[in-house]
Amino acid sequence: MPTPTQQKALFLLEKQGQFAVRDRNVPTPNRGELLIKNESVGLNPIDWKIQQYGMFLDNYPAIIGAEGAGTIEAVGEGVTEFKKGDQVLYKAVPVINNRAAYQQYTLTDPTSVVKLGEGISLDAAATLPTALVTASVGLYSQPGGGQYVPPWAEGGKGKYASQPLVIIGGATVVGSAAIQLGKLSGFSPIVTTASLKNAALLRSYGATHVLDRNLSADALRAEVKKIIGGSPSFVYDAVSLPETQAAAYGLLAPGGRLLVILPETVKETTEGRTVTTMSAGVRLQQDPQFGVDLFKVIPILLRSGEIKPLNVEVIPGGLVGIVSGLEKLKNNQVSAAKLIVHPQETA
Ligand SMILES: NC(=O)c1ccc[n+]([C@@H]2O[C@H](COP(=O)([O-])OP(=O)(O)OC[C@H]3O[C@@H](n4cnc5c(N)ncnc54)[C@H](OP(=O)(O)O)[C@@H]3O)[C@@H](O)[C@H]2O)c1
Repeated sequence: MPTPTQQKALFLLEKQGQFAVRDRNVPTPNRGELLIKNESVGLNPIDWKIQQYGMFLDNYPAIIGAEGAGTIEAVGEGVTEFKKGDQVLYKAVPVINNRAAYQQYTLTDPTSVVKLGEGISLDAAATLPTALVTASVGLYSQPGGGQYVPPWAEGGKGKYASQPLVIIGGATVVGSAAIQLGKLSGFSPIVTTASLKNAALLRSYGATHVLDRNLSADALRAEVKKIIGGSPSFVYDAVSLPETQAAAYGLLAPGGRLLVILPETVKETTEGRTVTTMSAGVRLQQDPQFGVDLFKVIPILLRSGEIKPLNVEVIPGGLVGIVSGLEKLKNNQVSAAKLIVHPQETA
């Protein structure tokens, strides 16, 4: 079938304005680009924050959306590793309309695209790009983060066998990916916080201890101390609200590092402890090879089962469903699941 010339896209009409589905041209891939037909796209908390606070974007109407999975629709000149019909997952660029995910066709750069093997559904695949990028950058690339050797680098797999890893918010999609990567790195014990109804799921990802997210900061510190026999030198806070940042900071040993993924709220640090805020997107611009290496290894880790896709909750209605999905994320109504929509179902 020839590529259509028109498609549906979800536009954020103006700064802090409303979303609406509109028609737009399907772009043609230039040299070195791919055009992906979006079958499943993933929703992220940042999307409702962009709408509510008017962050990141200067030009409206704007298309956002950070990740998806689908089939290759067209291949630009010079691209040899993909062909029409390949099933892929990819990381989108939500500040460039042609490269954002909340539309039926997206242009991409092949280095942020992964060919999927047999047996991985497009919904399952769409749960992973942002989760894996954010988790891995914080553990392996970000100065002030874990800065561990990644499991895909020489000697990295299983390297941290007798070291603890503490992840606040294991049921967030980022935390669930961090647990799985931590397991690949060999960390043990892997301690996380969550609603206890999610404990079995998080253990299946590799957590050894799941602590109730409602523990007081003092009780959390006592539990972590008991489990790891001391204080951790690194904590990944995958929630990063002021209260989790304070509790996570309170766990650290002198000289320890806290990695947060929202603006840092811990204002005073003592005894050499540090708090570092990370933006995965900014870090990948500074360390592009890290992203290239990660995307190369994702299909291998998926095939081997060492990385498992996350739980999926499909919001009906195609691109229109994004609006109610983002409300659910904003209202904390999503637990241990990735919200997905199917852009091709847009009426
Ligand atoms: N800096 C970056 O580059 C970057 C990248 C991606 C995301 N982010 C940010 O990272 C945050 C997480 O994103 P996400 O997509 O992973 O979130 P998400 O999956 O939508 O988060 C939902 C989960 O948060 C957990 N949670 C909420 N409050 C908690 C608490 N006090 N303690 C423990 N768990 C808690 C809930 O766990 P239970 O269900 O177990 O209660 C729930 O499952 C968002 O604020 C997002 O904007 C930043």
